[in-house]
Amino acid sequence: MTSIIRVSELRKIYDMDDDVQVTALAGVNLEIEEGSFVTTMGPSGSGKSTLMHIVGGLDRPTSGSVEVGQYNVTTLDEQQLAIFRRQMIGFMFQSFNLIATMTALENVALPLRLSGIPKDERMERAYQLLCKVGLKDRVFHKPTQLSGGQQQRIAVARALANNPPVILADEPTGNLDTVSGANIMEILEDLNKNGRTILIVTHDPRMMKYASKVIKMLDGHIQ
Ligand SMILES: Nc1ncnc2c1ncn2[C@@H]1O[C@H](COP(=O)(O)OP(=O)(O)O)[C@@H](O)[C@H]1O
Ligand SMILES: [Mg+2]
Repeated sequence: MTSIIRVSELRKIYDMDDDVQVTALAGVNLEIEEGSFVTTMGPSGSGKSTLMHIVGGLDRPTSGSVEVGQYNVTTLDEQQLAIFRRQMIGFMFQSFNLIATMTALENVALPLRLSGIPKDERMERAYQLLCKVGLKDRVFHKPTQLSGGQQQRIAVARALANNPPVILADEPTGNLDTVSGANIMEILEDLNKNGRTILIVTHDPRMMKYASKVIKMLDGHIQ
């Protein structure tokens, strides 16, 4: 198997006031195979989100390297990082991170707008994606008019808009009830069956059954 994500000696140190330093990542090495479903566990503060953000090009490390596909992420400038994120990564967050003033359709179409897709085409694609996650009847609803589970399904559709090979999901079921959480996990499992690589952070041991590999983090290390 070929690896799609390669993380080497990754460190992230936050400089706080009064010469205090916080080590979020203390030299992480990780290789993730293309098409795998990897679950990351670990207590709060162990560095899970920091790792996800750096792998996805949302944040920069203090040192070390991250490669995703053919991209050497840590060497990219801001403009190249934006292209990398668009082509390679779909993000999901615990708090959904949808834009409150936009409809479901507009939220899903937004990444397509950033990719320069013409309006008719992006609306059609956004609609198809919302149908795929079971929200055909909710396309003109705004996030506050929807349940948490429905909002997270919009977030899945948005993550898929540019058809990225890698999905990074940081506690995507953390704010959901059991049924909605299981529904999101089934959607992710389905995406994985269709070849996407999934890296997910979760505290929920019930989610383990979806994983092809489990990573445990503690104090900025992978155990
Ligand atoms: N922006 C920041 N500034 C300072 N410290 C941070 C920042 N982000 C995270 N940290 C610290 O880094 C460590 C790892 O955080 P995080 O990656 O969010 O952990 P997790 O997602 O596993 O809960 C924690 O000790 C946290 O307090
Ligand atoms: Mg976190």
